[in-house]
Amino acid sequence: MNLTINGVETPIESGPLTSLLDVLREELGITSPKAGCEQGGCGACTVLVDGEPRRSCLTPAASVDGAAITTVEGLGTPENLSPVQQAFTHHYAAQCGFCTSGMMMASQAYIDGGGTDDREAIQHALGGHVCRCTGYVKIIDAVAAVVRGESFDPNVTAAGTAMTNLGGMA
Ligand code: FES
Ligand code: FES
Repeated sequence: MNLTINGVETPIESGPLTSLLDVLREELGITSPKAGCEQGGCGACTVLVDGEPRRSCLTPAASVDGAAITTVEGLGTPENLSPVQQAFTHHYAAQCGFCTSGMMMASQAYIDGGGTDDREAIQHALGGHVCRCTGYVKIIDAVAAVVRGESFDPNVTAAGTAMTNLGGMA
């Protein structure tokens, strides 16, 4: 099998029924997709598969052979955050960070799909993504701000606190 991971063609050695989540985390050491429920219920493992958000815990590697996979590492770099990463930082939309990678990938897909800044539409797009920390309001604020084309100082959150660890815990 071969996958294109964040633009880099990558041979995969795991067995065909290995989950995409385990391929990313265990074989390739890409730990931004989180192993939460591993049953499709929390969204923490979400990555983009050919631009569409997918629960990587429920995705057998063989079913996406040849696909382009994007994780949060493919959105931007610590030195050059993407608009979604900037907005999450500015609006303090990440606290412990466990849900953040999946939230940002689903948000990116929503924005790329022409989503509006309507709060109910954003909430619907992020449905099934569980966050135990933020209460969701700041996440919706961040996505709406990106849709509106707002720009941010990536080093300062709305709460005035520097936050650099957008990847969260491994
Ligand atoms: S870890 Fe995949 S949905 Fe929870
Ligand atoms: S920021 Fe902690 S689970 Fe969402």
